[in-house]
Amino acid sequence: MSSPLRVAVTGAAGNIGYSLLWRLAGGDCFGADQPIILQLLEIPQVMDKLEGVVMELVDSARPIVHDIVATDDPRKAFDGADYVFLVGSRPRTANMDRADLVAANGPIFVGQGKALNDVAGSDVRVLVVGNPCNTNAMIAAHHAPDIPKHRFTAMTRLDQNRACGQLAAKAGVPVADVHDVVVWGNHSNQMYPDVTYATVGGRPALRIFDEAWLRGEFLQTVATRGKAVIKARGASSAASAASSAIDVMHDWYHGSGGHMVSMAVWSKGWYGIPDGLICSVPVRCEGGDYEVITDLELDDFGREKLDKNISDLSAEREAVADLL
Ligand code: NAD
Ligand code: LMR
Repeated sequence: MSSPLRVAVTGAAGNIGYSLLWRLAGGDCFGADQPIILQLLEIPQVMDKLEGVVMELVDSARPIVHDIVATDDPRKAFDGADYVFLVGSRPRTANMDRADLVAANGPIFVGQGKALNDVAGSDVRVLVVGNPCNTNAMIAAHHAPDIPKHRFTAMTRLDQNRACGQLAAKAGVPVADVHDVVVWGNHSNQMYPDVTYATVGGRPALRIFDEAWLRGEFLQTVATRGKAVIKARGASSAASAASSAIDVMHDWYHGSGGHMVSMAVWSKGWYGIPDGLICSVPVRCEGGDYEVITDLELDDFGREKLDKNISDLSAEREAVADLL
């Protein structure tokens, strides 16, 4: 057996945490033979609840879990961490946009970025789930100057998975037959799920679905799915968010099998996205890393959608200038 990976999860007593921890403990992310040490962070007021979560993890007797650390100190939670899930933060309610959360949640990522910089493992990889996740990831990366920027990502994989689910249902095929859907931009209702390079059952998606549906109902359903779930469940998506977080880290660790997947990453200027915005782009994962695919063609519709996302992300960056 290889040596354990240190996996840190913030907001570990929250709704996403309650699903994510069991997927990690079950080996769905790093493998059924890969031991892990769970390093769980919560705020002081929630430590009792976290104790209960730890009791249940112990009672689940998952063989790959070699140790569990539960703490309200980010420096302890991130100590030597190899993979970090930054989930802990407030979710929105039905009448809010995700960007409205930045005042409450942005400051969390200042302190956590600094703590990561000081104590995380030298090869750490960080996934930001807490909303608004693109801008929170930018804040955390900014405050971790010793960690290469490409080791931070924000989660748009849930949007990709939602798009795949809609395409599969419409075509009447299993979702496993849908590949290479790409989400561009911000994890907001302006995101652009692009099927230009996607295949469904081995056929190009553009030959199967009509443009009016792709640019209308499909796009709208994917982009507003978070709000629809909040309205239906009375709480923001949790199991699907945890599942998508597992997908991101799984692919980062094991590779994406040659397929394109969506990751919001620190831009180096590709596709006209200004340097330093964390924007979702197509990537391929291999050998423990990812490579941004920089040579896809965007048609006029796609370009316009991406430009709108760039302008929203730039405005979010300006709104948090005091945190940078
Ligand atoms: P939740 O309220 O159920 O749980 C959040 C947990 O975070 C709570 O237990 C809280 O005590 C903890 N927390 C708050 N501040 C913290 C801090 N500074 N350090 C550590 N823990 C802290 O919320 P949830 O449903 O688990 O959602 C968490 C976040 O994930 C929200 O911001 C939500 O909007 C976001 N989210 C993102 C996506 C995505 O696709 N990117 C999907 C779903 C939810
Ligand atoms: C989602 O997309 O489900 C999450 O970002 C939660 C939300 O606020 O919509």
